[in-house]
Amino acid sequence: MNTTIEQGQMAFMNTYAQFPLVLKGGHGCTVTDQDGKEYLDMVAGIAVNSLGYGDSEFTDALKGVLDAGLLHCSNLYYNEQAVLAATQLKQLSAMERVFFCNSGTEANEAALKLARKWGKQFSPVKDEIITMLSSFHGRTYGSMSATGQVKYQKHFTPLVPKILHTPFNDFDALSSAVNENTAAVFIEVIQGEGGIREIDVDFLRKVRSLCDEMGILLIADEVQCGMGRSGKAFAWQHTDVTPDAMTLAKALGNGVPIGALVTSSTCCEVFEPGDHAATFGGNLLSATAANVILKRLLEGDLLAHVNEVGAYFKSRLQKLEARYGCVLEVRGKGLMLAIELDRPARQVIADAMEKGLLLVGAGERVVRFVPPLIITTAEIDTACDILDQILTGL
Ligand SMILES: Cc1ncc(COP(=O)(O)O)c(C=O)c1O
Repeated sequence: MNTTIEQGQMAFMNTYAQFPLVLKGGHGCTVTDQDGKEYLDMVAGIAVNSLGYGDSEFTDALKGVLDAGLLHCSNLYYNEQAVLAATQLKQLSAMERVFFCNSGTEANEAALKLARKWGKQFSPVKDEIITMLSSFHGRTYGSMSATGQVKYQKHFTPLVPKILHTPFNDFDALSSAVNENTAAVFIEVIQGEGGIREIDVDFLRKVRSLCDEMGILLIADEVQCGMGRSGKAFAWQHTDVTPDAMTLAKALGNGVPIGALVTSSTCCEVFEPGDHAATFGGNLLSATAANVILKRLLEGDLLAHVNEVGAYFKSRLQKLEARYGCVLEVRGKGLMLAIELDRPARQVIADAMEKGLLLVGAGERVVRFVPPLIITTAEIDTACDILDQILTGL
C-alpha cells in the first residue's frame, strides 16, 4: 500500500470514500499522480478548476499577491482585489451588491439569513423557505436543511425549522406549499449533485411570477452551474427569468476557496453592519483568483468555447447512448453533462481511472462530466473513446 494513502487513512476523519490515488500536479486538463501517471480530468475538483492547471495568468496573479506580502487584511478595511471582484460580478450579472465568503455552503447560509431578514420586514412569521427535492445546497446546518435529499440529513436531525421541499419542476406542488409566510424559494437552474437535471423554463417563469405576487425572494444556487459552466456566466441567463439573488463558489476561485452571495436591487439593502460577516471573505488571495476567471468570462471567448465544445461533447455522449442499452439518458448543458446508466456508476468511474480518465458520479447511477472549461475537442474524443471501451466491456 502507498504510504501517503496509509497515513491519510490514519490521519483523516472518515468522511470521504476516497479512491486510492494521490494527485501531485497538473497541466492543461491533465493531472499527474505521485508516480507521474497522467489522467485526463473530467472532474476539475468537482466543477472548480475551470481554467485547468498551470494557467500562466492565474499563476502570475497569485504570485503577485504573495510578492506584495498581504494575503489578508480582514473586512475592517477595503482591498482593491475584492472591490474589483465585486464590480466584475455586478457587470456579469447586472445585479447590485456582493457579499464574499469562503464556500458554497457558506454562501447559502448568507442567502438563508438574507431571506429570513427580508421576510421579517413584512411580518415576524414570514420566515418559511421552500427548496426543491433532489437539490443540494451544502453541509452546514442551514444549507443541509435546505438540501432536498434525506440521505444528507438523516443522522443530523433536528434540522433548521421552516424549510420545506417540493418536487423539482412541479409548479402545482410549489404553489400549494407557498403561503403568506413564505420568505424565499431556492432553486438550482441545473441541479448538480441531484444528477445534472435542468429546470423547466416554464416552471421557472411561473415561480418568478408567484414570487413577485407574494413578496417572496427567488434565490438561485449557482454554486455548481454558475461561472460559465453551462455556457452562460450564470445558468439562469439561459432563461428570461432573473432571480433576486444568487450564490456562487466552486469555480469562482479556480481552486482558491471563495464564495459569494450576489443580490439584485430588490434585496441588496436588507443586510446592515453586524448582520453577517466572514473573516476571510474576499481576502486578497481569493479575490485575486476570482478576478482572473471573472475577466475571462467578461471577455467572452471562454463562454463561446464552452458552448462549442459542450455541444460537441453532448453529441458524442448521445452516440454512446444510441450504441449502448446501459446508457439510459444524456443530460446537461455546456460543460455540465451526464449520462445516466442502468447500473451503479462507481465501477465505470473506477475502470476509467485505471485507463487514465478521471470521472465523478452525481448520485448512484449517474456519471457526471465537469471538466476544465478549456478542454479541447481532441481531449473530449479521448475521454469518449475510453468510455466507449468501458461500456463495451459491461
Ligand atoms: C449547488 C451546490 N450548492 C452548494 C454546494 C456546497 O458547496 P461547498 O462544498 O463549497 O460548501 C454545492 C457543492 O457541491 C453545490 O453543488
